[in-house]
This record gives sequence, structure tokens and C-alpha cells, in this order.
Amino acid sequence: MVALLLLLCFFCLQLGAARDTITSSQYVKDPDAIVSAGNKFKLGFFSPVNSTNRYVGIWFSSFTPITRVWVANRNKPLNDSSGVMTISGDGNLVVLNGQKETLWSSNVSNGVSNSSARLMDDGNLVLRDIGSGNRLWESFQEPSDTMITNMRLTAKVRTGEKTLLSSWRSPSDPSIGTFSVGIDPVRIPQCFIWNHSHPIYRTGPWNGQVFIGIPGMNSVNINGFDIEQDGNGTFTLILNSANESYIGSFVLSYDGNFNELYWDYGKEEWVYVGRLPNDECDVYGKCGSFGICNAKYSPICSCMKGFEPKDADEWNSRNWTSGCVRRRPMQCERIQYGGEPGKEDGFLKLRTVKVPDFADRSLAVSEQTCRENCMNNCSCIAYAYYTGIRCMLWWENLTDIRKFPSGGADLYVRLAYSELDNRTTSMKVIIGLTVVVGAIISAICVFCMWRRIAHYRERKKRSMKILLDESMMQDDLNQAKLPLLSLPKLVAATNNFDIANKLGQGGFGPVYKGRLPDGQEIAVKRLSRASGQGLEEFMNEVVVISKLQHRNLVRLLGCCVEGEEKMLVYEYMPNKSLDAFLFDPLRKQLLDWNKRFDIVDGICRGLLYLHRDSRLKIIHRDLKASNILLDENLNPKISDFGMARIFGGNEDQANTIRVVGTYGYMSPEYAIQGRFSEKSDVFSFGVLLLEIASGRKNTSFYDCEQVSSLIGFAWKSWNEGNIGAIVDPVISNPSFEVEVFRCINIGLLCVQELARDRPTISTVISMLNSEIVDLPAPKQSAFAERFSYLDKESSEQNKQRYSINNVSITALEAR
Ligand SMILES: *[C@@H]1O[C@H](CO)[C@@H](O)[C@H](O)[C@H]1NC(C)=O
Ligand SMILES: *[C@@H]1O[C@H](CO)[C@@H](O)[C@H](O)[C@H]1NC(C)=O
Ligand SMILES: *[C@@H]1O[C@H](CO)[C@@H](O)[C@H](O)[C@H]1NC(C)=O
Ligand SMILES: *[C@@H]1O[C@H](CO)[C@@H](O)[C@H](O)[C@H]1NC(C)=O
Ligand SMILES: *[C@@H]1O[C@H](CO)[C@@H](O)[C@H](O)[C@H]1NC(C)=O
Ligand SMILES: *[C@@H]1O[C@H](CO)[C@@H](O)[C@H](O)[C@H]1NC(C)=O
Ligand SMILES: *[C@@H]1O[C@H](CO)[C@@H](O)[C@H](O)[C@H]1NC(C)=O
Ligand SMILES: *[C@@H]1O[C@H](CO)[C@@H](O)[C@H](O)[C@H]1NC(C)=O
Ligand SMILES: *[C@@H]1O[C@H](CO)[C@@H](O)[C@H](O)[C@H]1NC(C)=O
Ligand SMILES: *[C@@H]1O[C@H](CO)[C@@H](O)[C@H](O)[C@H]1NC(C)=O
Repeated sequence: MVALLLLLCFFCLQLGAARDTITSSQYVKDPDAIVSAGNKFKLGFFSPVNSTNRYVGIWFSSFTPITRVWVANRNKPLNDSSGVMTISGDGNLVVLNGQKETLWSSNVSNGVSNSSARLMDDGNLVLRDIGSGNRLWESFQEPSDTMITNMRLTAKVRTGEKTLLSSWRSPSDPSIGTFSVGIDPVRIPQCFIWNHSHPIYRTGPWNGQVFIGIPGMNSVNINGFDIEQDGNGTFTLILNSANESYIGSFVLSYDGNFNELYWDYGKEEWVYVGRLPNDECDVYGKCGSFGICNAKYSPICSCMKGFEPKDADEWNSRNWTSGCVRRRPMQCERIQYGGEPGKEDGFLKLRTVKVPDFADRSLAVSEQTCRENCMNNCSCIAYAYYTGIRCMLWWENLTDIRKFPSGGADLYVRLAYSELDNRTTSMKVIIGLTVVVGAIISAICVFCMWRRIAHYRERKKRSMKILLDESMMQDDLNQAKLPLLSLPKLVAATNNFDIANKLGQGGFGPVYKGRLPDGQEIAVKRLSRASGQGLEEFMNEVVVISKLQHRNLVRLLGCCVEGEEKMLVYEYMPNKSLDAFLFDPLRKQLLDWNKRFDIVDGICRGLLYLHRDSRLKIIHRDLKASNILLDENLNPKISDFGMARIFGGNEDQANTIRVVGTYGYMSPEYAIQGRFSEKSDVFSFGVLLLEIASGRKNTSFYDCEQVSSLIGFAWKSWNEGNIGAIVDPVISNPSFEVEVFRCINIGLLCVQELARDRPTISTVISMLNSEIVDLPAPKQSAFAERFSYLDKESSEQNKQRYSINNVSITALEAR
């Protein structure tokens, strides 16, 4: 009996272990199926709803209702169940009917005789040459109506060849319908939904991170679309997934909607996320030329200011297809027709819109030059300047514009002078006044807040001392599993903390060089006995760093807690810290650009490890030149984890009452509101990057009239197009110029005012390695403008404190 059961089980297993490959001898015959190795996808025969036709398709093996991601013989159905999918004599993957007629073929022209097809775990069916292992064909290059993770849609600029998603004709007929989705690479790449060849929806241009016509689209590579471009003018739209367990799909329905869905494991069903086009205003060219669609208005279409309906009757009967025409001719047109030239044209600003189709990219580096380029050419009728794309110009009719409540871009439309509001001067006065009053009010608010927080901190510090008693500390130390070194051993190693061995002054005490009996050189950080301050930071550092190991993080070798003495022992870095090189007129010459770039790269990798790769998520909170140590080969190592904070798995941001860090390296949201996240480290990194490229300290601009910091200086020079002024003369060399400028661009992206605009450190790495080719233009940097009131006061008071460059200070104590 038992034996019989076992035997049955054995057969079950045999049956269960389905294969995933098709060869000429192992074909798939209706109603058999093959299953991918991880049991994620299935390939077999199916009939659509309300149809008796048979098709070969691929679907998610364990999800119901069944979602087909691919259909082979979509235009030639089988009319009975005699079909097989196999490898033909010429090596192609084919679908044959009972009469051995080929209904579908992979149709690889240079057929090889011996090949096999395998269903992969991402849903891709791959045909390979058995001999060479080369991929001959894959189902991902011949998509049906569904886009899943890792799938690619390509478009070649030169030949115009495209791979498209194409809709089914109806729910019961998978044959190629009228709708398709793909990239249009001409001009600035954007995606379209077409009905036959007419566009019915447009995403707006790709700026390197998002489509700017889809407000709220998440940026960069996380469960979403990305566009890659190779050197041969091939653009590829990829659906990425950062999270393996997130299963999303985009399906082009038979009626032309592009639907986004994801699989909810809890409810075991597909959840609808959204669709494109999403409303009437999304429909391509709804309001005709020079019309604007606003879903909040009724009727939804209106003409832009300075334009009127081409055909008023038609327009009023809500047929907007003819669009609008200009009311008063532009200056150029007036000249052209021999009229009085009159006053120069101006631009009307349309805020937060989806920019029109047919944008041309211009090379202008600033918004100002973009405007001038447009103004100086009579055929230019509008411009916009957007991060990542920079200058866009329009020559033809402006079509497919819609207004968004927020997001989108600002569009400037050329109008005759008489059409514009000419109250700009009075506006300037009003704006100026508002800014001044606003600045004073915020300064007062910030002042009050600092006072309150400082007060709170004082109280908290007092209680902290009592809390942190010896026994708790012992627990932490045991938990950290760190070697304990005895006090006499360290006294001997450092020659009784001889002043001659002092390396410098760390945040909470001096650092000494030492040598252990076995010859190993060490650096010993000794907590100041007197103050009792820094205890918390000490324990924090022990706990944080003992768990980390990375080439670009300084290694903690052990610690010592005996009586009043608390010490941390690190590996010794013969070249001290980065600031000792960077800001020293002689030693900085040892750091050529290649070396500096390596240092930047190393710091990035260390940071990435902290933010992403280690088991914990760690925000350093005090990244600065003096905390970057250099080993004998000038490899950088991040040090000083006294301020670092460990985050839980899904925490992204935290608030702190203790704002600790170093003046000049703190992001605004952290310095002012105590909010810190990965992005505040990115900010500090940005400052560091600018310092490395310029060889100047961020805080070396106190006495300067126009700018208050290196950030301000870099931002100003950048906007003036004078990027060379930022570069350290020591490394200025035409052959590195592109790379240095690129780094400055990245630096400015990292110090943008708004945390959400700053890239993550992994994006920074892609930018540094030129994986991301076109960098966005930076938006307004934090602290770029001189807040005269606040700045004077704080710099007067704090000059002395901050001039000791190695000392970490608490911003709150600075009051
Ligand atoms: C299938 O046919 C039935 C009966 O004609 C109809 O009610 C149903 O809507 C059809 N389903 C689809 C998806 O077309
Ligand atoms: C199915 O199609 C084949 C040709 O592809 C045809 O010869 C055959 O008669 C058809 N059978 C039925 C039942 O329609
Ligand atoms: C196979 O490819 C050739 C050219 O590569 C093309 O002319 C032919 O129409 C294709 N056949 C099918 C059935 O797709
Ligand atoms: C094809 O390759 C398989 C596996 O390598 C081999 O067993 C078979 O003999 C080959 N067939 C031909 C026709 O080369
Ligand atoms: C698609 O085009 C066809 C004719 O070309 C038209 O009848 C149909 O209404 C269009 N559908 C959409 C959604 O535009
Ligand atoms: C561009 O095309 C050439 C020739 O087809 C090829 O050798 C090269 O690898 C391609 N470059 C890229 C970046 O794909
Ligand atoms: C990955 O996706 C799953 C399912 O959507 C979700 O439960 C999980 O929290 C995600 N993990 C991360 C790290 O985002
Ligand atoms: C709208 O106007 C255009 C151009 O005059 C015309 O061709 C079209 O038929 C009109 N559409 C409707 C629905 O009346
Ligand atoms: C204006 O721009 C158009 C389109 O780029 C170009 O053909 C034309 O030469 C330009 N005209 C002038 C005066 O620069
Ligand atoms: C632009 O719009 C005008 C008025 O609607 C029309 O006469 C002209 O043909 C359009 N030009 C282009 C290039 O679409």
C-alpha cells in the first residue's frame, strides 16, 4: 500500500517537473504546455473567450483570470486541436496545423539546422542555436499587446524601424488590431498610442528620467519605464522592476487604452492602476492648433491668450479640430508684409502644461539663451526650458497642449507686444517686496525655531547622561562583538598619548597615531574626558561601524572602555584626510583629475553601501572633506560614524530634534527642519563634489559680496555659462574638461533645493559612469542666494567656531 502511494507520488513528481524547452523532437502538441523553470510562465494552446479558434500563447502560470502576455499565430488561428509548436527543419520555431502547414514562424532568415527554444522565467521565449549558443530570436522582440518587466520596445532613428505593441482586434480575436504603442525617436523621444498611423495619445518628451507629459510619473528605474539610447541612434523603452516580487503589466486593450495593472498577492487578483489616455484632454490634439485643454473647465477647450477660434461657429458647437489662429501678427510678420514693425514681440508664460508636439531641441545652456534663440528667429513661435532636456523650440503649430493642476512644464509662447500685459514693471516691484517681506518673516521663524529646539536639546542632553550608564554600554559593546583593547596596551602604543603622535582633533576628542606590538599602525580616537560629551556618539559609532565592511569605509579595529576612558581604534590612514590635500596650495597638486575622479567614485561606492547594499540602511549625516580619509594609495575611506543613523527597512526619512552635522554641508531641510534622509547625505556629497572639482572650501566665501558659499558661486557661474570659473586651476586641462563639467553638473544636481529633485546615490553613480548620458540641468541650488539678514548675523557670530575646519558642530549649539 505504502509502496503504491510512493509510486504514485513518484509519477506525480515526474509529471509535475514539466519541461521548459522545445526541440525538434520535444514539441508541444495541443493541449500540452511547457512551464518555465521557476513555474512563473506557461506556454501552450488556448482559445479566447467566445471563440473556438486555437492559438499558441504565453501566460502567467499561476494567475487567474489567465493573462496572456504573448500570442504566436495571432493572425492565423488553428480551427481544430491538431496544432503543434516545434522546431522546423531550417531551425525556425514554427506553429503547424494538422496538415503540417506553417501558420506561424519565427522567420529568422539565416536559419541554422539545430536549435532549441526555451521559455525563460521572465516570460521570454528564446530560440538559440545549440552549437554556438547564440540567440536567434526571442518573443520579447515580437511583442503582442502586453508589456511586462524586462520587455523592450525599440525604434531606430535611421531606418525608422520600430517594435510596437499592437492591440487585439477584440477580446475574442487576437489578430492585429488598429492600435499600437511605441517610441517616436524623431526630435526628442516620446511614446505614442496610435490608431492606424494617427496619434491618439502622446506621453510628452523624455527628459532622461520621466516623460514630462505625465505628471506624477515616478522618476528613475523603479518599477517603471526607462529609455536607453545606443550610439547608433536606437532608442529602447524598457520596463524595469526594482522589486522582484512586484509584478506589473501594461496592456494595450482592443479599444485603444493602455492600462497599467499589478498583481496583488494578498487578494490574488490584478489591480487596475490607471490608463492612458486618462481623460478627454489626454486625447491627442483635442483642441486643435493653439488650443489648450483644461479638464476642469467646461467646455474643456479654449484658445491661448492672443488667439481666437478659426471658425467661431464650429468652435462654439464644440468641434475644436480646426483650432485657433493668431489675433495680431507678430513683428516679423508685420515686417514681412511691409507694415510698421512696431514694438518687439514678447512671450506669454503658460504654467504647468503638457508641452506641444514637434519640439526641437536646441543646444542653449540656459533659459536665457534659450529665450534669445527663440526671439532671434522669426519662425520660432514658442520655447520651454526643462531639466534634462534643456531648451525646446517650436516652429510649427502648437498642438496637443493641456493644462495640468501641477507638474508638466512652463511654456513660453511668442505674442505681439500689444497682446501682452505690460504691467511687468509694477509686477517687479510687487514681487520684490513680497520676497523681502517673505525673507524677513522666514528668518524670524527660523530664529524662533532654533531657540526652541536648542532649549529642548539642552534638556535632553542633561537627561541623556543619566540614562547612559555603564551597564547599558557594556551590553552594547557585547552586542557589537568588537575586540576590546586594554588601556595599558593603547597607552604603550601611543607613547602615553604623546602630543607628537597627535593626528588631529576629531568631533569629540583628539586622535592619536599608535603602533601595536605586532607592528600594526593604528589611529586612536580618545573621547574628551572633561566634557562627558559625545558618549552617545561614541556608542553610536561602535554599534554602527562594527556592522559594516566595505573598501571605502574606514575599518574599526577595536575599542577600549575603562573607567573614564573611552577610545575607538581604527586602521591608520597614512595620508590623513581629503581636506589636508584639497585645500592646501601645494599638496593639492598631488591630486590630478584622474585621482580626484577615483576619490569621488570611491566615496560614492562607500555611500551606496551605506544607503543600499549593507544589511542596514545608514544615513551618515556628517559627510565632509575632513571625514574622508585617504590610504597610502589615496583611496578614499569614509570615516566618523558618530552621527550616523540606522534606518529600519522601509523607513525613508526621519525627523530629529538634534540637528548635528557641519555647517556648509547640511541640506536645508535638515538644517532648518531636522528632516534627514538619503537625500541629505546626497546634498553633503554634492558639496564635497563641488569642493573636489574646484579645490575650494564651501565656506571660503564669507567676505564675498555676491555669493555666500561655493554652492552659490557654482550656481551663479553655471547660469552665466562660465563653468570654467568653478574648476580648480590645478586640474584645468582641456582633455578633462567634459568630465569635470559633468561632475560639476552632478554636484549641482545633488545640492538642489528640494530633496526630491536630488538624485539618489545610485543614480549619481550611473551619471558619473556616463550610463546616464544626458544629465538634467540643475534646478535652483539651496543657499544659492544670499539671505542677507540671516547670513550676516550667523556668519559674524560663528566665524570663529567654524574656522576650525575639523570640528563637527551642532548647528543648534551655534546660537
Ligand atoms: C461572449 O458571448 C456572450 C453571449 O453572446 C456575451 O454575452 C459576452 O459578452 C461575450 N463575451 C465577450 C468577452 O465578448
Ligand atoms: C480547418 O482549416 C483547414 C485549412 O487550414 C481546412 O482544410 C479545414 O477544412 C478546416 N476545418 C474546419 C473544420 O473548418
Ligand atoms: C519572413 O521574413 C522575410 C524577410 O525577412 C519577409 O519578407 C517575410 O514576409 C517574412 N514571413 C513571415 C511569414 O513573416
Ligand atoms: C542537435 O543538437 C543535439 C544536442 O546537442 C544533438 O543531440 C543532435 O544530434 C543535434 N542534431 C543535429 C541534426 O545536429
Ligand atoms: C480609430 O480609427 C478608426 C478609423 O480609422 C475610427 O473609426 C475610430 O473611431 C478610431 N478610434 C479612436 C479611439 O480614435
Ligand atoms: C553600432 O552598429 C555597429 C554596426 O552595426 C556595431 O558594430 C556597433 O556595436 C553598434 N554600436 C552600438 C553602441 O550598438
Ligand atoms: C516588493 O513588492 C511587494 C509586493 O508588491 C511588496 O509587498 C514589498 O513590500 C516590496 N518590497 C520592497 C522592498 O519594496
Ligand atoms: C469638425 O470640423 C471639421 C473641419 O471643419 C470637419 O471636417 C468635421 O467633420 C467636424 N466634425 C464634426 C463632428 O462635426
Ligand atoms: C530659423 O530656424 C529655422 C528652423 O531651424 C531655420 O531653418 C532658419 O534658418 C532660422 N532662421 C534664422 C534667421 O536663423
Ligand atoms: C497650422 O494651422 C493653420 C491654421 O489652423 C493651418 O492653416 C496650417 O496649415 C497649419 N500648419 C501646419 C504645419 O500644421
